[in-house]
Amino acid sequence: MLYSDKVMDHFMNPRNVGEIDDPSGVGTVGNVKCGDIMKVYLKIEDNSGVVEDAKFKTFGCGAAVATSSMATEMIKGKTIQEALEITNKTVMEALDGLPPIKVHCSCLAEEALHAALWDYATKRGIEITGLKPPVSDIGEHENVMAY
Ligand code: FES
Repeated sequence: MLYSDKVMDHFMNPRNVGEIDDPSGVGTVGNVKCGDIMKVYLKIEDNSGVVEDAKFKTFGCGAAVATSSMATEMIKGKTIQEALEITNKTVMEALDGLPPIKVHCSCLAEEALHAALWDYATKRGIEITGLKPPVSDIGEHENVMAY
């Protein structure tokens, strides 16, 4: 079996698909390798800095759907600093792995999350330690070297 049970579950029954009305931050990124696009919406409570809700929409493959489903599940309830620890690797681990050829799809989810956090920080005029400016295309990012 190419995909783990967890990947299949999150692909067949994706969590958090959709949009958030009046989001705190929105991030959109693309993938130069396949032309796929990912958009992530975050609702963040300003005082606590806790991510209360996360949703995504994607024009992407099954692995992109599964990793975004898992990533949005993982980020909910986390503080912004904790959210930064969610990477394509931690998401893949939570899904019991992806085939090497699909690793770039998980980078799309990570980059979209980070882009949404960046958007939030920009709108609020705050600095998030450790957060880098978003890329419009993950091909510009070193993460893409992971595959
Ligand atoms: Fe494009 Fe997976 S093939 S995101």
